[in-house]
Amino acid sequence: MGIKIAGTGSYAPELVVENNDFTAFVDTSDEWIRTRTGMVQRHISSGEPTWYMGAKAAQEAMNHAGIAANQVGLIVAATITGDYYAPSLSCMIQRELGAIGCIAIDVNCACAGFVYAFDLARRYLETDPELTYAVVVSSENLTKLTDYTDRSTCVLFGDGAAACVVTRSQGLYTCFLGADGNGAKSLFTRSIPPANAFMPDPPKAYDDGFPAGNGHYIYQDGREVYKFAIKALPLAVNGAAEKIGFDVRSLDLIIPHQANIRIIETAAERLGVSQERFYLNLEKYGNTSSASIPLALDEAVKNGSIQTGDKICLVGFGAGLTYGAVIFEY
Ligand code: UT7
Repeated sequence: MGIKIAGTGSYAPELVVENNDFTAFVDTSDEWIRTRTGMVQRHISSGEPTWYMGAKAAQEAMNHAGIAANQVGLIVAATITGDYYAPSLSCMIQRELGAIGCIAIDVNCACAGFVYAFDLARRYLETDPELTYAVVVSSENLTKLTDYTDRSTCVLFGDGAAACVVTRSQGLYTCFLGADGNGAKSLFTRSIPPANAFMPDPPKAYDDGFPAGNGHYIYQDGREVYKFAIKALPLAVNGAAEKIGFDVRSLDLIIPHQANIRIIETAAERLGVSQERFYLNLEKYGNTSSASIPLALDEAVKNGSIQTGDKICLVGFGAGLTYGAVIFEY
């Protein structure tokens, strides 16, 4: 069974920060950021919570699909920057949409989150006959986890949300998802450590092998993650295509996670697919983790870069380390 996108939507905070704006507090330059990443600006929260952005994006996708809240049977939300440990982001978005009663699930697969969420929605649609429409939404507030004294990470991240409404189709579908926990320490943000009234002082130490320090801020070993990304992207796209004997050169559009233009250039070469087939908008949004793929998807739908019947690939890679690709017919 395939999956069809019935509508898309997005939300980007109004505040736009340009490369040069960082030079006021870290030793960087517009030239370094452009040439090393392809980024030019990013949208940054002025206080918008993750649930607010996600609900705005999801509502727009529902309006585009022409469906009402009571027709939504499932919400899958991808995020690593929810506003609460509990309730989940999907429950917060459900409340805003008024889609009370539907199934609500969060997935935490970092920058591959939207791809995992999309595939999860398809599996629910396949096995639950009572389900007709699912909302797949990613919303991220990465800047709340960004250390603005660290030039190697602070220039990279932006905030935003995007969503799509999906339903069953008879079109082609394939996926390839995976993870490599051995790379967990290359890209992480810490939660609060164990603490309770009965804890020994000092508490028992458990070594996770992660670099020390950095509080709750994003730590990234850029070079390690880069090496992983240029392998994971072609691995996932080829892996998905091979399952159904599909030639990746027949893809009309590949929408990758928007982390670095150089990753896309290398991956395009390794896949043997022209770079023009890759949809990129990282110059406008920077890296928004799980929101980056649907932000590009929504833009491509709105500007006519995607037409009915097109064969589309979404491919993500990120903390975990996680990776995944889906191929479907629009
Ligand atoms: O979204 C999840 C997945 N994440 C990714 O896919 C990210 C993968 N990694 C990357 O995209 C790249 O590694 C980065 C964009 C993060 C960094 O680019 P790079 O070409 O790998 O740079 P680097 O870390 O090797 O640093 C090169 C130099 C260093 O200086 P030295 O040691 O050569 O003197 C850095 O200190 O660039 C320096 N540098 C900067 N210079 C100016 C690092 N950040 C900056 C900066 N401005 N913002």
